[in-house]
Amino acid sequence: MAPISIPQDSNAQGVVDQIERQFTLSPETLIDLTKAFLNEFELGLGSYGHPMAMIPTFVTGVPDGTETGTFLALDLGGTNMRVCEVVLNGDKTFNLIQQKFKVSEALKSGEATALFDYLADSVHTFLITHATTKYASPHSVDAGAAPTGDIVHLGLTFSFPVEQTALGAGKILTWTKGFSATGAIGNDVVKLLQDAFDRKSMHVKCVALVNDTVGTLLSRSYIAGGSIVGAIFGTGTNGAYIEEVAKIRKLANTPIAEKGGYMVVNTEWGAFNNSRSHLPFTSFDNAVDRLSINPGFQAFEKFISGMYLGEIARQVLGSLVDAVPPILFGGKGTPVLNAHYGLDTSFMSNIETAWDDNDHHTIPSLDAFDQEQLHPHVRAKLDRIRQVIVEDLAFQSEKVTLKDAAIVRTICYIVARRAATLSGVALATVLVQTDYASLPGQAKSLKNEKETINVGVDGSLIEKYPEFEKDLRESLRVVVGEDVEKRVDIGLAKDGSGVGAALCALQALKQIH
Ligand code: GLC
Repeated sequence: MAPISIPQDSNAQGVVDQIERQFTLSPETLIDLTKAFLNEFELGLGSYGHPMAMIPTFVTGVPDGTETGTFLALDLGGTNMRVCEVVLNGDKTFNLIQQKFKVSEALKSGEATALFDYLADSVHTFLITHATTKYASPHSVDAGAAPTGDIVHLGLTFSFPVEQTALGAGKILTWTKGFSATGAIGNDVVKLLQDAFDRKSMHVKCVALVNDTVGTLLSRSYIAGGSIVGAIFGTGTNGAYIEEVAKIRKLANTPIAEKGGYMVVNTEWGAFNNSRSHLPFTSFDNAVDRLSINPGFQAFEKFISGMYLGEIARQVLGSLVDAVPPILFGGKGTPVLNAHYGLDTSFMSNIETAWDDNDHHTIPSLDAFDQEQLHPHVRAKLDRIRQVIVEDLAFQSEKVTLKDAAIVRTICYIVARRAATLSGVALATVLVQTDYASLPGQAKSLKNEKETINVGVDGSLIEKYPEFEKDLRESLRVVVGEDVEKRVDIGLAKDGSGVGAALCALQALKQIH
């Protein structure tokens, strides 16, 4: 657990306030972070090999909702792996059937071939049990025989850094989000998957490769008739946006650069500031990083995404349990609280939901905390939080007080608020980069000063965490000003990964034929 220095005469409120100050970012910090972000954008657009990879995706147009077709999509990189069949109806709507599969820790860290064989098996299971697509099962034809049924076209949503070389090809750069399978880095992910299909004589062809952020951008565009950013705030965080090809300087002298126009760039912003020069690290963040499987990498993602927020909160809560004298839970833990990654980010959203801030009651001061004197409303809310703690952390009921509940709610709130605030910085960076916004005091002419700025988002945090969007918007406002912030329409691209992969497969087939 991360150490925390507690002044001799400290009280619970003083310690919690001190932590809150460390988790609160000033407007100046937000603007400085945006400048540092823009600088890393420039580096990544200029040459290969930077942590913020600014990956050209070879997607040069966005859908307008009139696209049609039926495709399979395989989505790897979030909490679950999914196989879907997507029918694009051509009227901004789609139908989707899907099956979720668990990827075990052993598969995440074992041999890549085992992981890709599992992906292929899952596609097979889906095809024979759910899909409406006509599919020639390998078991219905002799091994080695020519396929008798239709070849099924599949788009792969692979939500890890990949150096893409075409719509349907790209080398894996690194793993993120707890994956570490061997024999994958440096190899073409489409080939790894296709080889697995071929080993099983499956009549499935992977034609397109897409990051989940790109899928989100495309699918939001399909639903809304246009979009300029796709962002994920889920297990990981990342964003893709539409950039002028001329500004992707590392593509200079390639055939695609000669054509000009626009291309979707996958920023891989989770790796922002891996050098740690600007992000507001606390001792708790340092502990999260040190104990992760990729210390020194994905610095920004570790402040924001669902994979890490619960762990940051757990580090803070642990330090309060261990404080002398104890500040939380009478100095006791539980196996859940004591286990690395024991505290799921969903615990934090459960706490937020239980507090339910609609009636704007504030947490009572911890100094004069007297259970008997609490306003009945506040008491009821704290009691709901107490129950979440008892259930999710497996505490005996009598071991958790309402004061403990108040402390836990404050800690969850400040950890999540900082995540949302930093997410606003990432979005602001894209808006400044694309001339939809300028930094305070910066004079430049802006694009389409009246139009709505469409942003597609997906991921458990933005979807399920109360207040996430509100806090994100607050920091966006600090950096780009209220006029621009008000024009930003943040729309959920539910199933964006699946629909985006289908749209990309359609694009790829058009290029082939
Ligand atoms: C991680 C991956 C990135 C992905 C993001 C959201 O940051 O590196 O490719 O888009 O998670 O899933």
